Amino acid sequence: AASAVGKNEFPIPTGCYGLTVQEVEHYTDTLFRFRLARPADFRFRSGEFVMIGLPNAEKPVFRAYSVASPSWDEELEFYSIKVPNGPLTEHLQKIQPGDTVLMRKKSTGTLVNDALIPGKRLWMFSTGTGIAPFASLIRDPETYDKFDTVILTHGCRTVAELKYGEDLVAALRDDPLVGELVKDRLIHYTTVTREEFVRQGRITDLIESGKLFDDLGFPRMGPEDDRAMICGSMAMLKDTKALCLRHGLEEGANNKPAQFVVERAFVD
Ligand code: A2P
Repeated sequence: AASAVGKNEFPIPTGCYGLTVQEVEHYTDTLFRFRLARPADFRFRSGEFVMIGLPNAEKPVFRAYSVASPSWDEELEFYSIKVPNGPLTEHLQKIQPGDTVLMRKKSTGTLVNDALIPGKRLWMFSTGTGIAPFASLIRDPETYDKFDTVILTHGCRTVAELKYGEDLVAALRDDPLVGELVKDRLIHYTTVTREEFVRQGRITDLIESGKLFDDLGFPRMGPEDDRAMICGSMAMLKDTKALCLRHGLEEGANNKPAQFVVERAFVD
């Protein structure tokens, strides 16, 4: 049977776009990405998030989603978990090309280049779907204007959960526009916690032990040369933030750029 999801049974709420699904890709039982047509008047900064919902109720449920595509892209990409009985994702995971997804018109967020002062290295610390804002930022040339080297770290439970990031980085290296730019300046560092893999352990443990820095041939993080952005679960944010502070980095914000910024991963 055709899914009722996204069939426009309810009017588009004011302050929202009703956007057409262009593409859906499922990675695992719990992870998928989707792409939406981008309205001509929608502007955002790479790394920001928006509120996403479905036109399937009088009062739709909205959840925050980082835009995973860069600000110059003509489509909008999102990377999502599927939460069993999650008020939004149990329906959202069934969307198909041609369906309608709601997006509130205003974007916001702290994981933006404007919230950091320039530096030698930008560390992107992510776990799970927390990679999404970085998927946007690593495709934005501005990121490479501001930092010499960008290190995208991604920690997941299983190898299958790394695929989104791996596909993304592989495509980027072949990209005629940014491929040359990212060639020697983007490092993708993956780690897995619940399966055999070349690198194992939580990203926090790899920071704390110094293995992350040793593996890449960089000195320990410090306020002089290093900047960081953090996106993952609540516990991951708290622990990674504590490590940034312990390495002497100061937290920044849009109105007060500094050495690191934090954003929670947006899940049901
Ligand atoms: P672990 O398997 O040891 O829990 P989740 O899906 O729960 O968000 O986890 C995604 C990844 O983040 C997993 O590899 C998980 O490791 C790791 N993780 C969970 N909590 C933390 C934390 N406090 N700090 C760093 N990594 C974490």
